[in-house]
Amino acid sequence: MNDLAGLREPASLAAIAEGTERLNFPMASEPLTGALLRTLAAAKPAGRILELGSGTGLSTAWVLDGMDKDSELLTIDFDDAALGVLRGALGTDSRLTVVSGDADVFVHSLAGQRFDLIFADTWAGKYRLLAETLALLAPGGIYVIDDMLPQPNWPSGHDEAAAHLLAALGNNDDLVVSRLSWASGIVVATKRAE
Ligand SMILES: C[S@@+](CC[C@H](N)C(=O)[O-])C[C@H]1O[C@@H](n2cnc3c(N)ncnc32)[C@H](O)[C@@H]1O
Repeated sequence: MNDLAGLREPASLAAIAEGTERLNFPMASEPLTGALLRTLAAAKPAGRILELGSGTGLSTAWVLDGMDKDSELLTIDFDDAALGVLRGALGTDSRLTVVSGDADVFVHSLAGQRFDLIFADTWAGKYRLLAETLALLAPGGIYVIDDMLPQPNWPSGHDEAAAHLLAALGNNDDLVVSRLSWASGIVVATKRAE
């Protein structure tokens, strides 16, 4: 099996890829991560989905491609140039709300809300505010992170932070966790139903 064969990329991806290259945006998610997110989004009809770290919208496009018409996606980033690419390609999709701002502040502001799928692709929700973000998961909700295999752009000491994060997720009795040494290194964790 070839993981990349027959992916059927979202139509919006070409414009986003062009904008990503133009900005020289270095942190874009890879297609396999996007394809997995799309599959998980499709498992949550009428789902409320949260993305922390929109970038130029590559992962956003994949998630939208899996969502049904009644699902909603909330995404945040503080890079307005990157969000410009995202808005240009995806901004007319009424299921999508794009927030420009600080993700740490935003996570705090969401306290009490529930999401069926969370893709945490920035510091907040991953290396910061992990407990606060996991508290936003609905029962049966799925938390996803990528870049958990060593990456060329990891600063010195980041491998220890990644190991700590993996341990924190693995030791959380509320979560059912799978580590996938695949793509950039993925963790999928489902919140046990109460
Ligand atoms: C790994 S990239 C996101 C990539 C994106 N999900 C994709 O598929 O291309 C991380 C993003 O987090 C954003 N970011 C970093 N710190 C942030 C903060 N405090 N608040 C909001 N966004 C932040 C960066 O601007 C960057 O776009």
